[in-house]
Amino acid sequence: MFNKVHRRFVGAVLFSSIMCGAAIGHGNVSPQPIDTSNLPQLGDEWREVNPYRDNADAITTGASAYNQNCARCHGLGAVSGGIAPDLRLLPPEDEGDEWFIYRVRNGSVRNGVTYMPSFEGTLTQEALWSIRAWLATLPADE
Ligand code: HEC
Repeated sequence: MFNKVHRRFVGAVLFSSIMCGAAIGHGNVSPQPIDTSNLPQLGDEWREVNPYRDNADAITTGASAYNQNCARCHGLGAVSGGIAPDLRLLPPEDEGDEWFIYRVRNGSVRNGVTYMPSFEGTLTQEALWSIRAWLATLPADE
């Protein structure tokens, strides 16, 4: 039975998921706080090289921080969804670290169009380096 009330309910659900999708598309979702209290704290000065490389706690934190803040554009599990670069292909070690932290702090804005929002001020340095620590563990070809 698909009566009027039922139909209106389905319509409302559909409508709110569309609105939600639109907000996500524009990058307006509020960032999720990431608990990094179990990691060495890094202070105010931004590092250029990942202080958490191979740190198991950071890798675990980074996986969830990524899924909450980056996956909507870069794909679940960092397997690119097609609208943003595949982050498993970043260069390894120092070179990739420098580029990673530059891009996440600054975001990417060209000709007034925000391709990626800046994460400086919304995620901590600890959360961002955790994400990089997790990304560095991923094989590029799966
Ligand atoms: C709103 C969509 C969006 C979100 C959310 C987003 N990104 Fe991006 N990101 C992009 C796009 C699009 C580019 C390519 C920018 C360009 O071409 O200038 C990019 C580029 C990058 C790059 C450079 C990749 C390369 O190969 O040069 C890194 C690193 C990166 N993002 C990391 C992240 C991390 C980490 C997060 C989560 C904290 C994140 N991004 C969240 C859309 C997004």
